[in-house]
Amino acid sequence: MARIYDYPEQLIPHPSPENFQQLWNSKKGNIPAASGKVHLEIGSGSGRYLIEWAQANPQDFFIGLELRYKRLVLAAKKMEQQNIHNILLMRERGEFLHEYLPNDSMDFMHINFPDPWSKKSRRKHRILSAEFLNRMLPLFRSKGELMFKTDHLEYFETVTEILQQLKTYTIVEHTSDLHGSEYNEHNILTEFEMLFKSKGNPPIGFLRAEVI
Ligand SMILES: C[S@@+](CC[C@H](N)C(=O)[O-])C[C@H]1O[C@@H](n2cnc3c(N)ncnc32)[C@H](O)[C@@H]1O
Repeated sequence: MARIYDYPEQLIPHPSPENFQQLWNSKKGNIPAASGKVHLEIGSGSGRYLIEWAQANPQDFFIGLELRYKRLVLAAKKMEQQNIHNILLMRERGEFLHEYLPNDSMDFMHINFPDPWSKKSRRKHRILSAEFLNRMLPLFRSKGELMFKTDHLEYFETVTEILQQLKTYTIVEHTSDLHGSEYNEHNILTEFEMLFKSKGNPPIGFLRAEVI
């Protein structure tokens, strides 16, 4: 638990708009082309996906929101060991993102294997809802993109329907079997996805939607 405070350059354990802005500004100053794209991952876990994206795109800037201390510490440790400076992690709920990012500031939102809240009575806790997607909309820059993966195909279809009904996002890539699809070539595996692969490899839903 104490290790959550060991990575002040990587991780904000108790974020506020002020300490977020401070670390963001200092990190942005370290990136050669500060005009890079801004990526946001909600539920970034132990950071595997975020780190691979950030290494492949050193000109871009990445923010990971995660709730679990241990996963945040693991991600921050990897970032420190691998000398990665273009990621900022914070212990915050994705639902509060709008308190940190101004409108028109985010290019990509990634949500991978969010908690599915399978029971009907608990589905109101799902992060991807029409209300959430509407609230996030102003944060996107023009041509912003949402990327979503899940092994829970009912959740996947529900989100697909919500996006189609909203008419503010256009789905440009969509498959109920990511690993068997043409999109797999560019797929970056998350920790949970690796686990699924090793345990029977169930079909994974994947979609990419552009903000209209
Ligand atoms: C099933 S895990 C997937 C982790 C990672 N995305 C992966 O695919 O390996 C879901 C993660 O989302 C985090 N989480 C759950 N609700 C969240 C929320 N409202 N905001 C941010 N993170 C959340 C959990 O702590 C957990 O680490």
